[in-house]
Amino acid sequence: MLRAEIIGVGSYVPERVLTNFDMEKFLDTSDEWIRKRTGIEQRHWAAVGQSTSDLALQASQDALKSAGLSATDLDMIIFATLTPDHFFPGTGCFLQEKLGVAGIATLDIRQQCTGFLYGLSIADHFIRCGTYKKILLVGSEVHSSGLDRTTRGRDVTVLFGDGSGAVILSAKEVRNPEKDSFVLGGELHADGRGAKELWVPAPGSALGRADRVDHEVLEAGLHYPQMNGKKVFIAAVTKMAESLTNCLEEHGVTVQDVDRFFFHQANLRINDAVAEQLSIPREKVFNTIQKFGNTTAATIPLGMHEALKAGELKKGMLVALAAFGSGYTWGASLLRY
Ligand code: ACO
Repeated sequence: MLRAEIIGVGSYVPERVLTNFDMEKFLDTSDEWIRKRTGIEQRHWAAVGQSTSDLALQASQDALKSAGLSATDLDMIIFATLTPDHFFPGTGCFLQEKLGVAGIATLDIRQQCTGFLYGLSIADHFIRCGTYKKILLVGSEVHSSGLDRTTRGRDVTVLFGDGSGAVILSAKEVRNPEKDSFVLGGELHADGRGAKELWVPAPGSALGRADRVDHEVLEAGLHYPQMNGKKVFIAAVTKMAESLTNCLEEHGVTVQDVDRFFFHQANLRINDAVAEQLSIPREKVFNTIQKFGNTTAATIPLGMHEALKAGELKKGMLVALAAFGSGYTWGASLLRY
């Protein structure tokens, strides 16, 4: 059977590190508050002039190198981000131009923190159908220039970091499904009733104004993320646990069978609560939020790359992924690395 295998993983974070103590200098916050409530110790922020596609280019080249491929081998680029280079066109087009591979298909995914899982599923389906053989899937974000750096926005601003992660998916004829490395499958969900619990209202066509951006919009801070943290927190724990349980059950797999779990990195307390609910031993969950904060669509591939470098992700391991984010969107996937 024709399936998708991850044959390359790469990542990139900008040089500049912003610790919680650095944040204390311009926000009414404290290292103690951030660390205790979220687990975050530091995050990376892009330099002025570094765009989402710039970060993605580095991660993509890293992933291509680890796969032993060049960009000209690709059939498609899937780009997950909530911080696009521009309102339109999709950031995949900008990345494609930077990679110098005009002509291949590009597709942007607007599924926020679940973007990587949606992208993985889409890539998997294109490959299963035999449409494409080599797909670059990248999650990349530059949050820093879109955050409210005043006390008004402190609940969100302390959470987000900039970064990028990428994988290369390749078509493979799976002969031994019990042993071969491939994407086994997954499930995706959304609930638009939660759309305004975590969102950036402006610019947008639904603002009911003659102009998408005007002084009132800017003064009200509608171009910054707005979040109902408590509601999102509860929904994240519930839905990630539910989705992961369904995904494992569907594939006849137990928590004990899974070697590593990569969860979206929004809050260490969310991930600890999911692990506790499912009785997942702590050492099986690979968290990176302490170092990078929440890099939304990039958290899972960035985490996989960190785990690879640390020797905690190895060929043949059974790996479960789960994410929850704005939309609401959520899902889970299972793969043998
Ligand atoms: N520093 C100091 N104090 C703060 C900060 C801050 N950065 N932010 C908020 N506070 C204050 C609040 O004003 C409040 O003060 P008050 O008690 O005087 O009113 C107090 O701290 C407690 O605030 P809460 O919002 O109740 O804090 P909570 O324990 O809920 O933690 C947090 C907030 C960390 C944001 C949490 O709700 C959370 O992680 N939510 C989920 C985030 C998430 O999962 N996002 C989804 C993924 S992101 C995506 O998809 C784009």
